[in-house]
Amino acid sequence: MKIVFATNNQHKLMEIGDLLGDSFTLLNLKDVNIKEEIPEDFPTLEGNAIFKARYIHKATGMNAFADDTGLEIEALGGSPGVHSARFAGVHKDFNANTEKVLKLMKGKTNRSAKFRTVIALILDGSEYFFEGIVSGKIIDEKRGTGGFGYDPIFVPDGKQLTFAEMSLSEKNNISHRALAFEKLKLFLSQNHVADNKAIN
Ligand code: IMP
Repeated sequence: MKIVFATNNQHKLMEIGDLLGDSFTLLNLKDVNIKEEIPEDFPTLEGNAIFKARYIHKATGMNAFADDTGLEIEALGGSPGVHSARFAGVHKDFNANTEKVLKLMKGKTNRSAKFRTVIALILDGSEYFFEGIVSGKIIDEKRGTGGFGYDPIFVPDGKQLTFAEMSLSEKNNISHRALAFEKLKLFLSQNHVADNKAIN
């Protein structure tokens, strides 16, 4: 089955293609001739993800899915959340974003936070959502050089290392994104599309 993933990131496409297996031919935005940037300015992760999936479905008539991820910090009222990519400005600068969080978290005793990934899927005209969450703590300085984004300041619950100190496979074993995509995979492989519309 052909399905469009709302990305032009070849690395992400390969990773997810590998996870979903041979029964799916995964296409990216370029493959379906969508060259414009799809807006991502909704107030929720769900809103962004479903807008992107609907946009592709409308343009191509094909089955499609899209994801959006945010870091939600309790002591900051859920920020940066849906604004994670541009928290310190439009340049999507990982380092500036991380420094801003560290500054805002100075002196805060509640360090609880979670990464949350939402995937929106449009399959045969119906809409479905899948969610992956990993809970953890924001530390008070950066540690590690791997990963990306907020990885150097996030230690998942039950672990000693930040995401940036873990190997890629170690992170992918427990990450929010992996959890959400595993749910998508299970759903697509079962393919019981008619009677399973709940948020998983
Ligand atoms: P996206 O929806 O995957 O593009 O993620 C939005 C933003 O959230 C990114 O620009 C990063 O700042 C942050 N982010 C998403 N996933 C991760 C992760 O696994 N580790 C650290 N930061 C992440």
